[in-house]
Amino acid sequence: MSEQANATDLLSWYDRHARELPWRMAPARRQAGEWPDPYRVWLSEVMLQQTTVAAVKSYFERFTALWPSVNDLAAAPDAQVMGEWAGLGYYARARNLLKCARVVATDHGGIFPNSHAALISLPGIGPYTAAAISAIAFDHPEVVVDGNVERVMARLHAIQTPLPAAKPELTAEAAKLTPAMRPGDYAQAVMDLGATICTPKTPACGGCPWRVPCKARLGGIAADLPRKTPKKAKPTRLGIAYVARRSDGAWLLERRPDKGLLGGMLGWPGGEWGDAPLDAPPMSADWRALPEEARHTFTHFHLRLEIRVAEVSVEATPNAGAFLPPQQFRPSDLPTVMRKVFTLAQPALAGSDI
Ligand code: ADE
Repeated sequence: MSEQANATDLLSWYDRHARELPWRMAPARRQAGEWPDPYRVWLSEVMLQQTTVAAVKSYFERFTALWPSVNDLAAAPDAQVMGEWAGLGYYARARNLLKCARVVATDHGGIFPNSHAALISLPGIGPYTAAAISAIAFDHPEVVVDGNVERVMARLHAIQTPLPAAKPELTAEAAKLTPAMRPGDYAQAVMDLGATICTPKTPACGGCPWRVPCKARLGGIAADLPRKTPKKAKPTRLGIAYVARRSDGAWLLERRPDKGLLGGMLGWPGGEWGDAPLDAPPMSADWRALPEEARHTFTHFHLRLEIRVAEVSVEATPNAGAFLPPQQFRPSDLPTVMRKVFTLAQPALAGSDI
């Protein structure tokens, strides 16, 4: 092990300890000259934005089983893709995923472009994702910096500047270490180091291939880095969700507009969320308030949703949303907050044993 951190020490650790992930080509296969499928690399990187590997795995398996190629995904109905994405969060990613698949299918003949510049021009692909795809799928020496890499660089160089101000400094350090040989494996190796050894709370420095050159370990401050500028406290917003069940078993649901939070997703009708719950029932009915509310935390606020339920007749017409027959309603198509509402509302409604 060298006195100076270098890519070789990390890569030889990766050759022994790389995680087996469904989108990943094992280092031995990569070195035998095989290439990963750029479609799978792209899909995994979009799913992994702001989301953990543990949460992504089953979604990735399901998407690739349903749509094995970018052309298959491009041809999928919007509602099915949004339904399959439900629960992963950050729904703009799913809308952009479909847009991107369709651009690749129609403008690029179903072949992902291999340059950073072409990748970044595609919907939903920002600087990080373009660099990650370019490195992992095409072995270009891109500097790939995610949260794991930031933590590893902050510790290796004992950088005390708090995040996010430290980002340029951390990126510069990451750039110095990025090798010309095996840059795709290297990018994944730093991620694995951050996820399995150089973890946020109690780093396992004993097993680290960079333990000798690591300045934070030397100073006994590894667990304290990276420093972070405290985030503003999240405000709480209030709202009401209306769950109506028709006597034939149909549920009143509304597809949210494409733009904005939960855009394009199915949900229970209700007014705007704000400082006070807005009373805006989607139809006249004998609404009953449930004693328990649904709580959910989004990136920028906490939400508390009061739940109102009603049994309605088949003649009743809603002024928002549409009734979905029970055989077409899959609770798993709902985003998490709306699924929480359903879990609380279902037992309170007659004949709702789905
Ligand atoms: N996080 C983001 N991209 C990743 C990848 N390719 N492997 C593991 N973790 C990741």
